[in-house]
Amino acid sequence: MMGASSSSSTSFRKSLQRFQRPLAPHLLLTELGRAYGNLFSLFVGSRPIIVLSDFDTVRDALVNQAEVFSDRPSIPLVALLTKKMGVVFAPYGPIWRKQRRFSHSTLRHFGLGKHSLEPKIIEESKYVKGEILKHGEEPFNPFPIIGNAVSNIICSMAFGRRFDYDDIGFKTLLRLISRGLEITLNNQILLVNICPWLYYLPFGCFRELRQIELDVTAFLKKIIMQHRESLDAQNPRDFTDMYLLHVDEEKKTNSESSFNEDYLFFIIADLFIAGTDTTSNTLLWSLLYLSLHPQEQKKVQAEIDLVIGRERPPSLADKAQMPFTEATIMEVQRMTVVVPLSIPRMASETTKLQGYTIPKGSVIIPNLWSVHRDPKIWEKPDDFHPARFLDENGQLLKKETFIPFGIGRRVCMGEQLAKMELFLMLVSLLQTFTFQFPEDAKKPPMEGRFGLTLAPFPYNIIALKR
Ligand code: HEM
Repeated sequence: MMGASSSSSTSFRKSLQRFQRPLAPHLLLTELGRAYGNLFSLFVGSRPIIVLSDFDTVRDALVNQAEVFSDRPSIPLVALLTKKMGVVFAPYGPIWRKQRRFSHSTLRHFGLGKHSLEPKIIEESKYVKGEILKHGEEPFNPFPIIGNAVSNIICSMAFGRRFDYDDIGFKTLLRLISRGLEITLNNQILLVNICPWLYYLPFGCFRELRQIELDVTAFLKKIIMQHRESLDAQNPRDFTDMYLLHVDEEKKTNSESSFNEDYLFFIIADLFIAGTDTTSNTLLWSLLYLSLHPQEQKKVQAEIDLVIGRERPPSLADKAQMPFTEATIMEVQRMTVVVPLSIPRMASETTKLQGYTIPKGSVIIPNLWSVHRDPKIWEKPDDFHPARFLDENGQLLKKETFIPFGIGRRVCMGEQLAKMELFLMLVSLLQTFTFQFPEDAKKPPMEGRFGLTLAPFPYNIIALKR
């Protein structure tokens, strides 16, 4: 299948040269896609991995053949950690469907319903501003502040409470999650995918990861237990309460139900893992891009001043009148694609895609980075240019090729929540501050740090009070 396009030997050589010095996977696969075509395969052992590099091929697979391409590959390490529960890595089928449908509608209930999440995001933004103000006009590292704030929004929704940024339990939880994610990308632990029993070795990163798993489980299970003890069926406070009530409801009618407290634990873990790094990295990218493009920052602030002013907190209702702000967030998401290779899918049947046979069990990687940097779709794709999302009257253009949340049946479950957080937090920050990149600082490389999500390289920033 390699060589699906008429690649020149020059680009082939260029790709090989790239192998000789480390190149982040999203960039390497994008180059290979340009050389070999929009659908090419690699082998890891005997397993075919098929990379989809342009919008039409991604849509053909994930939307037009959704029934075949909605499963996730079984990765031994992930299976050990998730027990195949939760939503993100659950096998495609009726359990995933029910759990996702329930979780999604409960998120919507708390996000957009009566118990709106909006005031909680605004409240969290106030804490962020308080932290930022402590730095005066000195450069500071925005990563921990933004990370804490976004985690707290998940906490508000999942547990009905926020934690102070210096709360020992909260700090420990965040440290454990981030260390756990770091270890799962470590070369040694990846050997578990070849020999799963290595996970039980009593030393090194194997033991550390198992201990983290135990500690995170204890922290989350304690909160779930406290919710169980104080549950009031008439007055569900948060996602956990709603889920527990649903568990009780299901027990009455269906003894085989997949809804139970163990499953709840994995769903909450998914919300933390899928919902925090992605959103906080997008906010961190936004601050970085806006500080490097002060003219665009000024335009967003002018729109904020016109529609909201400096005092009233922003509301989602303002969004419709703020096309430039929305276009700016979209342009940051286009440029940075924090989940650049999406989350792998698996072909559950042998099928044909774009004329090629895709064997059952192939791992499918939709390269969203490549779609968002495709020069056939985007004029000057490497330039930061928010106005590309506006029409000639300054109104927002919806583009189907803009897919930071993926597409198809497994499209991001937190898309609406993430959009709400991004808009309210960014607007709230730009209402109060102008962000500047320190004059003497070196600009970080803009292709990002590839990990579970694509983070900006560390940077410091100055926040000037407006
Ligand atoms: C800017 C923020 C975010 C981005 C860019 C993002 C992006 C993505 C992407 C690309 C996928 C893979 C979709 C696929 O397989 O086609 C995904 C899946 C998922 N996301 Fe997000 N996400 C974000 C925020 C969130 C938030 C806030 C939550 C939840 C609170 C969340 C929950 C999930 C879940 C549960 C899945 C798995 C869906 C499934 O397998 O059925 N995400 N996200």
